[in-house]
Amino acid sequence: MFKGVLFDLDGVITDTAEYHYQAWKALAADIGITIDRAFNEQLKGVSRDDSLERILVHGGRADDFSAAERSELATKKNDHYLQLIANVSPQDVYPGILDLLKALKTHDIRISLASASKNGPFLLKQMALTSYFDAIADPAKVAHGKPAPDIYQLAAQEVALAPAECIGIEDAIAGIEAIKASGALPVGVGSPVDLGTDIALVPDTKSLTFAFLEQVWQNH
Ligand code: BG6
Ligand code: MG
Repeated sequence: MFKGVLFDLDGVITDTAEYHYQAWKALAADIGITIDRAFNEQLKGVSRDDSLERILVHGGRADDFSAAERSELATKKNDHYLQLIANVSPQDVYPGILDLLKALKTHDIRISLASASKNGPFLLKQMALTSYFDAIADPAKVAHGKPAPDIYQLAAQEVALAPAECIGIEDAIAGIEAIKASGALPVGVGSPVDLGTDIALVPDTKSLTFAFLEQVWQNH
């Protein structure tokens, strides 16, 4: 039986992946770069600085900004994002997530956050979910962002488990790659087109039940 679940946040616990997209789209438009939802799949799960880099490369402007200007752009995006998430509340928790967290607690499964976002602690608080989490891995403490395994390794370590004892849950391809590289068992929320055909998938969080996770674990 698995002993821990390592959760991504944006796009798994709530719909903040959409707000990240809106904020990046506006920021990109300010500097003459157009991004669409297909391109956004490459940004999901990716750190703030790495997302900006991908957008600049996409727009052919990777050499146009100094480190200080990049930092300003990233801050501008985050300020916009903070406005968009200011009113996130418990009502915004995706269907099935609260029941899953409760079931995991009942079964003494450790729960750890493996989000790349520095806004993770704020969002958990806004959704009244902080008390369900035994640990929140701090993305500022890891050398490499997703798709590197670092944040999943840290999230497991913070609850005194090996990744191989844990399930990781993700909505982004960069995150699935990070889970695989860490040695945890991936469960994807999304489509096979975006996340691959070689892992357990649910179309949405409603299907993310404790029984489903048990079944995935038994079959791996
Ligand atoms: C991830 C999101 O969870 O966090 C990315 O999927 C985001 O879109 C990354 O860029 C970093 O988030 P933040 O809030 O620290 O800018
Ligand atoms: Mg995500």
